[in-house]
Amino acid sequence: MSKTVDVALPKGRLGEKALAVLEGAGYPCPEIHSESRRLIFANEAAGVRYFWVKPSDVAIYVERGAADVGVVGKDILLEYGPDVYELADLRMGRCRMCVAGPAGFRDNPDRILRVATKFPHMARDYYAGRSREIDIIKLNGSIELAPLLGLSDVIVDIVETGTTLRENHLEPLEEVAPISARLIANKAAYQFKTDAIRAMTEAVAAAVRGKE
Ligand code: PRP
Repeated sequence: MSKTVDVALPKGRLGEKALAVLEGAGYPCPEIHSESRRLIFANEAAGVRYFWVKPSDVAIYVERGAADVGVVGKDILLEYGPDVYELADLRMGRCRMCVAGPAGFRDNPDRILRVATKFPHMARDYYAGRSREIDIIKLNGSIELAPLLGLSDVIVDIVETGTTLRENHLEPLEEVAPISARLIANKAAYQFKTDAIRAMTEAVAAAVRGKE
């Protein structure tokens, strides 16, 4: 049986960084650097096959076993709770999930708080833990617009550099969770390919430690 590890990488900057770590950790794939629209690249000799996947879909591929392992933001894991193993913190793609609002915002406990977000489960869990009644407004992007136009009081969103908030006269009010990229594995694949996936996890973890 093939012990090639199938790896779902998120298309984009984070995926490129994760690929660099994997390649440096002993899983190179020269073909993947060719100018190509292909989505699957294999290096059988190194025991690896890479797929480029839309970042928010990585956990779906891994949970359903179409990929053995994948690289995914902790935000996706917290939001969707996929049934996968979390193997390692890659310490990249670091940012914070925050509550943000207009500078000087004061919550009025007599009113239901209107919260705009792409992450309704995280927002709901966060405010449930504070027994704060909220009205979730689920948006798909440009979340910062919502409080500016009076659609919501606050937002729950990812803050990386803080530039988007600043340029829209908003500020972080509370931290919901620190976020970074994680290496995850399909649970069944982990049983079938234990040695190969463990070896990859250890090599990647060592490469990540070496970069610090
Ligand atoms: C993310 C996030 C913030 C921004 C934060 O948006 O939703 O808007 O990045 O980054 P910063 O703190 O460095 O400014 P993304 O670019 O993914 O777009 P969208 O959510 O509007 O689709």
